[in-house]
Amino acid sequence: MSESIEITSSSSKIIMPSQEDLEREMSRFRNKMKYSTSMEFVDKSSDYGQVDAYFHDVANRYDSDLNNPYWAFSHDLLKHLINTSVKNHFDETDPIHLFDAGGGTGNWSKYVLDNYGNSDAVLFDRNTSMLTVAQQKLRDHRLSIKYTEGNLEEYGDFPHQKPNLIFCFNCPIGFARDTEKVLENLYQHLETGGLALLTAPNKFHAFNFVCQTQQDQRELARIALDGTVKFKQEMPEIFCYTPQEFKDMILDAGFADVQVFGYPVTMYPEKGDTKHLKATTINDILHNPIFREQALALEKRLCLNPENAYKGGANLFAIAKKLPSNV
Ligand SMILES: C[S@@+](CC[C@H](N)C(=O)[O-])C[C@H]1O[C@@H](n2cnc3c(N)ncnc32)[C@H](O)[C@@H]1O
Repeated sequence: MSESIEITSSSSKIIMPSQEDLEREMSRFRNKMKYSTSMEFVDKSSDYGQVDAYFHDVANRYDSDLNNPYWAFSHDLLKHLINTSVKNHFDETDPIHLFDAGGGTGNWSKYVLDNYGNSDAVLFDRNTSMLTVAQQKLRDHRLSIKYTEGNLEEYGDFPHQKPNLIFCFNCPIGFARDTEKVLENLYQHLETGGLALLTAPNKFHAFNFVCQTQQDQRELARIALDGTVKFKQEMPEIFCYTPQEFKDMILDAGFADVQVFGYPVTMYPEKGDTKHLKATTINDILHNPIFREQALALEKRLCLNPENAYKGGANLFAIAKKLPSNV
């Protein structure tokens, strides 16, 4: 249990809220909103019409995100979190069988196949346009990768071969309508002894971002009451979580040894960073290679402290394991 931290100086006394205070504050806010509004937001059983249409539309320019300094920085940090987690879990010679859940255009399958010698992957996604982009990108790896079109909510869509590593990155958890079902299926699919690395949007970030960029009470109410955020109008709403909510949901699905981190800690997206072909951004400071290198080294240390997930970084990153049932 973390406690509130008291910082004193000769002239002032600052009480830093603890993680529990922040989680409590969030649920107090939710209750207050519940009684002060009758707004309705997303139907959680809604179909995937909007989500599918959105990814069909953006598939061919999805990878342009990486031209944007903020997203490229965040991407590099995710590589660090992957490498740290994989190296802690697997021996160097262990084969890696990856299941890339909601793998989209295949960036993370490619990363594993390029960097981990004894590896193969299943790229699973419900969107054929995203999978088509992935197939082009991964044609040099065609012997080590299989593509499955399917819904993470439907266990019948999963392939027979069980993975020892699962990735679920950049909002399949978030865009999925029934996240609990998705997590249950991922748990069932993972080989016993396997490792799952999962990301989800951070609810504290959603609040900050909407406060700063939209100044819209209704959008704040959406986050509090519905647990969803719309980062921009044309994007379907995405479910977002506090670090504790994310952890509880993963534990409820059956996973063990769950740790939740947040990243990036010191860099923050601007409104311009939500646009497609995100070539301009006021995070331009990240174009300076010396600054970028120093910032990345600092972030690599900060992001591995779970308390920093409460600083409101955009993404939550969870490490979870499937242990033998007698452990
Ligand atoms: C933002 S993209 C992320 C792609 C990739 N993981 C990455 O990190 O670049 C989200 C992907 O999740 C997929 N997705 C969302 N819900 C899904 C579901 N229920 N079943 C399968 N794929 C889903 C979408 O089709 C989309 O390709």
